Amino acid sequence: MAPVTVGRERRYLLCEPRYFELAYVINPWMRQDSPVDRNRALEQWHELVRVYRELGHTVDLVEPVPGLPDMVFAANGGLVLDGKALGSRFHAPQRQPEALEFSRWFKENGFPVVTPEETCEGEGDLVPVGPDILAGYGFRTSTTAHISAQEYFGRPVISLRLVDPFFYHLDTALFALDDTTIAYYPEAFSPGSRAALRRRYPDAVIATRADAMALGLNAVSDGRHVLISPGATELIGRLTERGYVPVPVDTSELLKAGGGIKCCTQEIRIA
Ligand code: ARG
Repeated sequence: MAPVTVGRERRYLLCEPRYFELAYVINPWMRQDSPVDRNRALEQWHELVRVYRELGHTVDLVEPVPGLPDMVFAANGGLVLDGKALGSRFHAPQRQPEALEFSRWFKENGFPVVTPEETCEGEGDLVPVGPDILAGYGFRTSTTAHISAQEYFGRPVISLRLVDPFFYHLDTALFALDDTTIAYYPEAFSPGSRAALRRRYPDAVIATRADAMALGLNAVSDGRHVLISPGATELIGRLTERGYVPVPVDTSELLKAGGGIKCCTQEIRIA
């Protein structure tokens, strides 16, 4: 196995779950009969921020807005690459006002913003890996937005079809370990997309359904440390074997809304 490269310092944008609740149901993880404990969500989220900072990463914060409970899932608010932002256009009407909040943050922090004409849920479905952008469609982001991303960033976009409603965003089924390696759950993809991933990433780390159902693929890697759901035991073992350093962080309260570590984290890439 190729040795793991050293981790790189990253900049992440997060949003405190100050107004987190289950006010609507827009994915199979959300059940209005399982109320959330907001204090627990806040504790878990603060622990996530603490771990990022302890590892030497920069954490930026966007101000949460009352009535926008899913704003904690900052990954969906855009994609910042090469110092410029692709804004979001949310699928669910309940989330649409979030786009403005994230766009404002981008502008105030010096990132020009362009927003696609069709549904685009930021890093939820657009996952940069080295020079490429892996892009999910089937539930949220439209393929038209994939084309917008390719034109805007001038980077190759590889469209991948998601087929399992539990893995409605690409970042629930796949994550980048570093610039050349990914981990993913093959059954979340159509046969053609699965084959495309196999060809492109023959050395990928493969996750089991149990790992994926623990949202183990909703993980964040700095190239060395991998912040990951503690429930993804099999995957944690495989990552360790490959020389990565898994750092379990429990975000189980946020999982009730269908999100995990990565959903809470938007990476801000300057270069
Ligand atoms: N309730 C949110 C939604 O359905 C969860 C978003 C999770 N974010 C993510 N990047 N997968 O939109």
